[in-house]
Amino acid sequence: MKVLGIETSCDETSAAVIDDDRVLSSIISSQEIHSRFGGVVPELASRAHVRLITPIVRKALQSSGIDYKKLDGIAVTCGPGLVGALLVGVNFVKGLSRALNIPFIGVNHLEGHIYGNLLSQKNYQFPILFLIVSGGHTMLILMKDHLNYQVLGQTRDDAVGEAFDKGAKMLGLGYPGGPEIDRRAKNGDPDFYKFPRAWLKGQNFDFSYSGLKTALLVYLEQNPPSAISKHIDDICASYQAAAVEVLIKKTMNAAKHFGIKYVGVAGGVAANSLLREQLTEECGKQGIIMLLPEPIYCTDNAAMIARAGLEYLNSGITSGQNLNAYPNLKIKSAKKS
Ligand SMILES: Nc1ncnc2c1ncn2[C@@H]1O[C@H](COP(=O)(O)OP(=O)(O)OP(=O)(O)O)[C@@H](O)[C@H]1O
Ligand SMILES: [Mg+2]
Repeated sequence: MKVLGIETSCDETSAAVIDDDRVLSSIISSQEIHSRFGGVVPELASRAHVRLITPIVRKALQSSGIDYKKLDGIAVTCGPGLVGALLVGVNFVKGLSRALNIPFIGVNHLEGHIYGNLLSQKNYQFPILFLIVSGGHTMLILMKDHLNYQVLGQTRDDAVGEAFDKGAKMLGLGYPGGPEIDRRAKNGDPDFYKFPRAWLKGQNFDFSYSGLKTALLVYLEQNPPSAISKHIDDICASYQAAAVEVLIKKTMNAAKHFGIKYVGVAGGVAANSLLREQLTEECGKQGIIMLLPEPIYCTDNAAMIARAGLEYLNSGITSGQNLNAYPNLKIKSAKKS
């Protein structure tokens, strides 16, 4: 089945064509305009999507070598995300599906991140424990089968990606901050400063990252700028170590609790080198198979949306012209276990 995927939930305009599990093309245009504001400006994102969507889709089709007429279906992100940005993709796809007379499906962006991981895998079996770590989400999900999810826990406040981005902003590093903290941390001492870890009381799989951000703010206020500027790499390494340690411990606790054999990590922060290295090591010790996504499928891309959409279309599940953009869409199972 040949599926065109479209992703416009935040600041990436992306289109991709897949043929079953094979990615034929994947075009991602990251909107540079937001970097000067240190975060995404919703109105600017919507306008950029409007400008970019037609050329990006055209480019994805051209580089896939597939003609519009050969497409079997279209998948589009319909939430969660910025409402104006989502509306651009959803309405574009509604029109295109009508014009081509082919089915389309609205896909949850987080489900997309999960399938972004599965795009990189050859062998896996359900159930898979997924750690979703992105700019807006931090979640543990038990995936019992295709399109079947049980949320085990999630952040009670900020997402870990946001903690990376805001932390980087406080340190005067660029946006998005995650890759920059990752890069600087490689030359730093993770034991330079002990930032707090939010374990939260009792056996639970929830997270909290607002305290970590505040701890960095307090640290920066209490130390002279000259001392801080000499130790940026050490501060990055210590901050990253605190963020990642909680992710690893909670994931391993959940894997033990549910007797899991496969663990996957998905979302932008899944590109973080410390997280990848330590999760692989811990899973190795427990005899768990670690499913790592290729870095290109960690951050937002339309190939992951096409792959999730393929699963729906193959099961005969489609959306109608009444599909809307749902900024707070929750991940839901389309199939029962
Ligand atoms: N190497 C890295 N280390 C840490 N964080 C990273 C790395 N690479 C990317 N990130 C972070 O990933 C996030 C972007 O991921 P993604 O594109 O999945 O988020 P989003 O789409 O904005 O949010 P969501 O998927 O929750 O809607 C940013 O917070 C960015 O800093
Ligand atoms: Mg995302």
